[in-house]
Amino acid sequence: MRAPLPGFGLRIRVRKETLVELEHVLYERADDARLVTVTVNRPDKLNALNDAVVADILAAFVHAKTDPDCGVVILTGAGEKAFVAGADIGELAVMDVLGAKAKSHAGQAALAAIENLGKPVIGMINGYAFGGGLETALACHLRTMAVGTQIGLPEVGLGIFPGFGGTQRLPRVIGRGLALEMILTGDPIDAETALRYGLVNRIAPPADLRAVTEKLARRILLRGPVAVGIALESVLRGTETSLEDGLRIEADMFGLVASTQDMREGLNAFLEKRKPTFTGE
Ligand code: COA
Repeated sequence: MRAPLPGFGLRIRVRKETLVELEHVLYERADDARLVTVTVNRPDKLNALNDAVVADILAAFVHAKTDPDCGVVILTGAGEKAFVAGADIGELAVMDVLGAKAKSHAGQAALAAIENLGKPVIGMINGYAFGGGLETALACHLRTMAVGTQIGLPEVGLGIFPGFGGTQRLPRVIGRGLALEMILTGDPIDAETALRYGLVNRIAPPADLRAVTEKLARRILLRGPVAVGIALESVLRGTETSLEDGLRIEADMFGLVASTQDMREGLNAFLEKRKPTFTGE
């Protein structure tokens, strides 16, 4: 049995030292910024999501939620070949009706923990992201992708369909027509196409992907952390409802941000022609 919460055996790397570890997920923190990298670490199986990996992803994001030294998360896959090559097909092959439902629920719970982290998560698609892998990337708020790799939802070719939120999140990101083409054909797309679809925010050669992704993360980390979190929540909650209700949520959130020290600091810094120093209060 793996170590229980809290702390739950996370591997946290500070100044390149490994402190603690989950079995299938690395949790590493940059030594100069509130930047955490969560790496799905099952490279011999192209980081395929078996039940244990899914549980570890959930645990890592539960930890990140209350980690005061975590402002932005980069989620990626170990090795050079894959982000996540999908749900573990060996496990899928033996599931029964209730097992399939439980598996879908567990996957959805882990991905909800990513989506509802309250802090930005950037999916760094360093290699193949198929099936549950792409669905994992879709739970992230932003995505970057290596040129030369491919992503897709090939499930219909296996006689199943995307059950970790893919039928719901993909159309919300790229629109129903393009999403249906990907889901119904099961065909993969390359990085250039993903960029054109608006499925990823940046593409880069594999050697530059980390730098491009970190640059994006560090831009966000310069901003007021409370405002970033509230803006994130406003978009996530607001776009799941009517425009009228979404605007109400936005107005409430705008009232909330006005209660922060960071707002006073940000506005005063502009007026005083200096850079703001945000404290997250
Ligand atoms: N589930 C379980 N194991 C997987 C897997 C998955 N989704 N994807 C890859 N693996 C395993 C392979 O079985 C292989 O294990 P082995 O070395 O013990 O035989 C190992 O990872 C390497 O994969 P391999 O297929 O040899 O690599 P490749 O470079 O030839 O092909 C892919 C890479 C991604 C094209 C191919 O692995 C693939 O199509 N994977 C399945 C993708 C998919 O359909 N995902 C959706 C699942 S619902």
